[in-house]
Amino acid sequence: MSAPLPDAALDQLFRNARTRNGWKTDPLPETLIRAVYDLARMGPTSANSSPARFVFCTSEEAREKLAALASATNGAKIRQAPCTVIIGYDLDFADHLPRLFPHDQTASSWFPKGSDVEQTTAFRNGTLQGAYLMMAARSLGLDCGPMSGFSNAKVDEAFFAGTKVKSNFICSIGYGTDEKLFERGPRLAFEEACTIA
Ligand SMILES: Cc1cc2nc3c(=O)[nH]c(=O)nc-3n(C[C@H](O)[C@H](O)[C@H](O)COP(=O)(O)O)c2cc1C
Repeated sequence: MSAPLPDAALDQLFRNARTRNGWKTDPLPETLIRAVYDLARMGPTSANSSPARFVFCTSEEAREKLAALASATNGAKIRQAPCTVIIGYDLDFADHLPRLFPHDQTASSWFPKGSDVEQTTAFRNGTLQGAYLMMAARSLGLDCGPMSGFSNAKVDEAFFAGTKVKSNFICSIGYGTDEKLFERGPRLAFEEACTIA
């Protein structure tokens, strides 16, 4: 049986966590980047398909390459943050299913190459894994700054040429500052967003 997390943990993960637009510029150690992935990869995906592919852009060169393909405001954030992750999804994810879903060796046949189910499964689960990555980062004390204001086609060409990996969204991670922080936006009330059927 798991116990509810203490309030301090819930504050860190949800209530006080903000989308950051300003960043401390100290480099992120690779051990921390690996620790984020080690947690994120444990989140559930259909048939354990794990379609997300992550490019952690930490070098000056990679951050500049990515920043140039983003909107001007997002580009400035990418240049400042020590790391911006490209969250992609691999349409060839099913090739790994014999290893990732050993209970059923026919699982890769559920996702025919080029089919809608392959696209939907990759995008759905890759998006979920992007969210797991953000919560993993927050759980390790990091801040996140997710962004979709960039050219997916150009990022695919620059980072995923010759593969079946497509970019979904990008997310800066590091230690955020209050620079350019928006007022916290309201959220929908339970009654507006939920029903109990
Ligand atoms: C997938 C995704 C894409 C986003 N794209 C952008 C973006 O391109 N530019 C931007 O300034 N903020 C972007 N945001 C940030 C959202 O506006 C922000 O997370 C939301 O308003 C909640 O802010 P809060 O976490 O501080 O409450 C994006 C967020 C997500 C999750």
